[in-house]
Amino acid sequence: MTVGLEFPDGFVWGAATAAYQIEGAARDDGRGPSIWDTFSRTPGKVYAGHTGDVACDHYHRYPDDVGLMADLDLRAYRFSISWPRVRPDGTGPVNPRGLDFYDRLVDELIGRGIDPIVTLYHWDLPQTLEDRGGWTSRDTAYWFAEYAAAVYTRLGDRVSTWTTLNEPWCSAYLGYASGVHAPGRQDPADAFAAVHHLLLGHGLAVRALRAAGAENIGITLNPAAVLPADPESAADAEAVRVVDGLANRIFFDPILAGGYPPDVLEHMRRFTDLGFIQDGDEKAIAAAIDLLGVNYYSPTYVAGRPDAPGGGLAHPGTEGILFLPPAGPLTEMGWQIEPAGLTALLERIGRDYPTTPLYITENGAAFDDKVGPDGQVADADRIAYLDGHLRAVHTAIQRGVDVRGYLVWSLMDNFEWAEGYRKRFGIIHVDYQTQRRTLKDSALWYREVVARNGLTS
Ligand code: FCB
Repeated sequence: MTVGLEFPDGFVWGAATAAYQIEGAARDDGRGPSIWDTFSRTPGKVYAGHTGDVACDHYHRYPDDVGLMADLDLRAYRFSISWPRVRPDGTGPVNPRGLDFYDRLVDELIGRGIDPIVTLYHWDLPQTLEDRGGWTSRDTAYWFAEYAAAVYTRLGDRVSTWTTLNEPWCSAYLGYASGVHAPGRQDPADAFAAVHHLLLGHGLAVRALRAAGAENIGITLNPAAVLPADPESAADAEAVRVVDGLANRIFFDPILAGGYPPDVLEHMRRFTDLGFIQDGDEKAIAAAIDLLGVNYYSPTYVAGRPDAPGGGLAHPGTEGILFLPPAGPLTEMGWQIEPAGLTALLERIGRDYPTTPLYITENGAAFDDKVGPDGQVADADRIAYLDGHLRAVHTAIQRGVDVRGYLVWSLMDNFEWAEGYRKRFGIIHVDYQTQRRTLKDSALWYREVVARNGLTS
């Protein structure tokens, strides 16, 4: 059989989810409250007051859900562990019943030949830790490393791939600067303290996992594909430098290049005296990693315009920069569909940080899917999105970027944070009244992609 676009041998195909978005069972087996329980109960924060209390009820339905993954022939499954299940108040005793769930899930996955990829933190900080300062407090970084070690002790014999944080950009800037995510604070100085403590927590967790015997450790970022409105304009290039610094180099450089870039430190100093950066922190953050997870959905176009207001609270200090409104075809989130942005991003990471293998740990799209009368979910727009982005990944690989795997976001429709359940990212449809799962056309299409290790031309 001729194959149009074949991926490298051993390329990892899978799907991704996160604990708060799918598990439900918010009070089962000793789970403590997280900042998302609090935030979703705060009026006006989440669409229609939706919460993760029940979500996809995956906590109880995981055997069937793993069965669906096996039906789709997925080779890997990226999921996150809920810190407030494992250590309900963040610092006290480990709750074995919380770990039991992940123990069962991991066994189920392995029994079906699916490789578990663990994310240790996908935004659900124990509320008790937020009450003690959250990510603005240095202690949170140390508690995170302790929690990571506790999870490893239980699952390390069967889980080989560990990632520390999911998208610290969102945790810090959306959680502490714009406030559209939990815990909903709005102070740029807090956001920069959170960036630093998230990075420190990452570094300390890597050290703890490594010491315990883990071999394949990384982190997932959502680097922005920042592009100039006009590639010829010096002002636009300067805007790219600033936004790239705040969104990308502030994470990449401490993790992969030994420390914060001077221009980013200078930018942060407009809001804070940087007293939170202590001697030895940058060394801890730069602990060697084995893989970098890249989440990509949409590009960001910027231009230098003296009178532009900047990118809003999530982009502190970007006055004089115009963030162009999304153009062209959009997803249901209003996000611009541009696969070339992914190629450009991967090539950039491959060029500037060449030694770390990359995995696409999230990529996908929300559309207004409906189950038809015949039980079919005809999501041709999602298939087109995924097809285009897989081609973009393939192009980057052909140009020499070391991309080892692709995990679609998401396995199933779920709680889309501030958007609640109204945005559907799954390749499996979830009816939240009945908890019935239906494979969308994109799931059937993806099964073929996995079987072929690529796309037909
Ligand atoms: C990412 C998150 C993930 C999901 C997708 C759509 O930023 O990591 O949980 O919400 O966006």
